[in-house]
Amino acid sequence: MKGSFAFFMKGKSISMKNDINWYQNAIFYEVYVRAYADSNGDGHGDLRGLIQKLDYIKDLGVDCIWMLPIYESPLRDDGYDISDYYTIANVFGSVDDLRELLKKTHDRGMRLIMDLVVNHTSDQHPWFQAARKDRKSPYRDYYVWSDDDRKYQGTRIIFIDTEKSNWTWDGQAGQFYWHRFYASQPDLNFDNPKVQQEILDVMDYWLAMGVDGFRVDAVPYLFEREGTNCENLPETHQYLKRMRQFVDHKYPDCIMLCEANQWPEDVRPYFGEGDEFHMGFHFPLMPRIYMALGKEDVTPLFQILKRTPDIPNNCQWCIFLRNHDELTLEMVTEEERQWMWDFYAAQPGTRLNLGIRRRLAPLLGNNQKKIELAYSLLFTLPGSPIIYYGDEIGMGDNIELFDRNGLRTPMQWDNSPNAGFSHADSSRLYAPVINDERFKPQQVNVEDQRQTPESLYNHIKHMLAVRKQHAGLGSSLLEWIDTGNNAIAAYWRIRGEERFLICNNLSETTLTFKIEMPTALTKGMDLLSGKDIDMPSSHELCLNLASHAFVWLKIN
Ligand code: BGC
Repeated sequence: MKGSFAFFMKGKSISMKNDINWYQNAIFYEVYVRAYADSNGDGHGDLRGLIQKLDYIKDLGVDCIWMLPIYESPLRDDGYDISDYYTIANVFGSVDDLRELLKKTHDRGMRLIMDLVVNHTSDQHPWFQAARKDRKSPYRDYYVWSDDDRKYQGTRIIFIDTEKSNWTWDGQAGQFYWHRFYASQPDLNFDNPKVQQEILDVMDYWLAMGVDGFRVDAVPYLFEREGTNCENLPETHQYLKRMRQFVDHKYPDCIMLCEANQWPEDVRPYFGEGDEFHMGFHFPLMPRIYMALGKEDVTPLFQILKRTPDIPNNCQWCIFLRNHDELTLEMVTEEERQWMWDFYAAQPGTRLNLGIRRRLAPLLGNNQKKIELAYSLLFTLPGSPIIYYGDEIGMGDNIELFDRNGLRTPMQWDNSPNAGFSHADSSRLYAPVINDERFKPQQVNVEDQRQTPESLYNHIKHMLAVRKQHAGLGSSLLEWIDTGNNAIAAYWRIRGEERFLICNNLSETTLTFKIEMPTALTKGMDLLSGKDIDMPSSHELCLNLASHAFVWLKIN
């Protein structure tokens, strides 16, 4: 191959194609397309709007965008209810727009993964429409039916605030159908080999277009078996391995990211022997970051990471502070859940299902130092971090909106009435812009924060730049340090000869503490200030950290 063709295959440079472990040290950014930027003034964000903002995302330091579902959908669950896997919903744009988005993302050296919703479809999907009409339809067996609602009694209900049962009666079908989420999302029947093949075909279609992989939604629930809780079944792992084989065979630089809201020991099998998922979200770590901050005690972090099994060398955790769903409290004890609710969700209307429907900044009292501390933990604990759109500027939420919608309001680009999100009349916006005094666009917006050196945005951007210069901050060994004070979260990150010392003061007060050094070390560097620091001649380093302050030191 000659000329530019030599460097671009499906829009990805050869170096991108060859870097098959790129996800192990990547910065991810979660975008809800409908909320991000509206290019055509219809009040809904769209793919062309996202294209206009790629430079912003790149400049922040992002390596990979994760885009919430954009497929054809009645949008009863914000696109997690797909009615056609092969088209893009009109409000978001067209397949050509996606092609352009992919090209422009790759031109900037970034990647893009899409959501892949495999557990269920929308009840408006033609498969379900055909299935409910006719028992003899080949699509009947695409879903899970029963004459009564007593099967699989051991299965929990996930959306407990809206659903009373995992079975719903369908008058037209004359049977009950199974669904783990809203009743408008019937579960696919993975015992049917045709369903298994359909999903592989869907993957093939988008990966061939140049998508860099999928965040695979709700994977623990693919199969049902009597006498089990219908989660994490061996059949599920078997099928997921088949998916991975397919990806490895045809698209070796693409990834599968696992959404399994489970305890670490139950997520571990989703990595297989490095032959299932490349990445998995660490759900139990997330609430414990808030517990550690609220209790001023490192113990919850320490305990959950101690309980986290090692993963194969070619895998990585995905860690996060918030996402588009409620802050889930499924992976905590009942006592811990109650503590989290009392501490973070005392205000009526902030609880949802087994969680809390608030964004990062309101959760942390809009305290910039505390928010930065949370990011310090996120950027230095094991895993590739994901930032939820808007949390880089500390956006607020709106608990007046239904279910999780209050966490998905328009991105605040500037201080104009529609926050620079859309030119539409504000009455036509898909959701109102935040108007809370502390979080309205006049207080919180990208434009102002970019111009203010000490803003949350600029601090996060700087932390990301430092993290990206030092791969060892992300993938390396973690060794906890006992400082004798639980309000200090201190740990080594060790990668070959490189050693990083990370100390976070979780408390409201200034603390002085000592770190025992492995050997008499000579030189150190404070990575965030860029200043050299003198190391003591003794084996002890004495540090002093103001309330909620943190340091990242590189020790030679
Ligand atoms: C997604 C939710 C969605 C659910 C059903 C989840 O895990 O994150 O937003 O409602 O799957 O698809």
